[in-house]
Amino acid sequence: MNFHIEPDYDALSRRGADLIEGVMKATDTYTLGLATGSTPIGLYKCLVDDAQRKIIDFAGATTFNLDEYRGIGGTHPQSYRYFMDEHLFGNIDIDKSATHVPDGADPDAAHACDCYERAIQEAGGIDIQLLGLGHNGHIGFNEPADEFPKHTHCVDLTQSTIEANSRLFDHIDQVPRQAYTMGIGTIMAARRIVIVANGSDKAEIVKRAFFGPVTPAVPASILQFHPCVDVILDLESAALSKNLI
Ligand code: F6R
Repeated sequence: MNFHIEPDYDALSRRGADLIEGVMKATDTYTLGLATGSTPIGLYKCLVDDAQRKIIDFAGATTFNLDEYRGIGGTHPQSYRYFMDEHLFGNIDIDKSATHVPDGADPDAAHACDCYERAIQEAGGIDIQLLGLGHNGHIGFNEPADEFPKHTHCVDLTQSTIEANSRLFDHIDQVPRQAYTMGIGTIMAARRIVIVANGSDKAEIVKRAFFGPVTPAVPASILQFHPCVDVILDLESAALSKNLI
């Protein structure tokens, strides 16, 4: 694992954008795996700024997001499709048909998940996958469990994730209880992975995920087995990992 310890959130965002742009500039066509959540917002802003300044373009891009709530469609303001439109897709020149988010409006979970997994395969897999890190070690919506789920699947969200995500809804009762998410196997098949985490509230899980035992009880710990991972942290999230600072 390559660790990048940045002084602050802006530097972390810039570093993440640079790694993704490196892949974008290396080939004419490429597949990006994308994440939602608070952490990547600054990184997306860097990508948008660079696209507007013509430093990069998204003409060759195909994208796959990690996850989507089950039971809400892409026009719902809390859907992950809506988030992506707001923070990235709506601000860059990209072929919308090349952007993929699991279909949360499809009530048939097996159908929605199988279609998504197949679409990733048919696109030739993911060149670089961006991840955030949940407080309980989740990546995508792969919550702590007894085993690592392989493929895109439907999950029941844990109470801690429902509570964490309720900040984005008017009331906690409105937070969907299920989601469609890439599996750990889907994520691990990406040729390269970038994971970003900032803030002191992530310091404990950074230590457990990257310096503790590999276990499905901390899903992100599996990344220790991936051959090409960049972990981008700020000083606060790295603070409890003694070997980092
Ligand atoms: C989002 C996702 C989640 C988040 C994680 C961290 O698509 O898959 O795993 O990356 O919950 O979220 P933030 O960045 O809000 O702390």
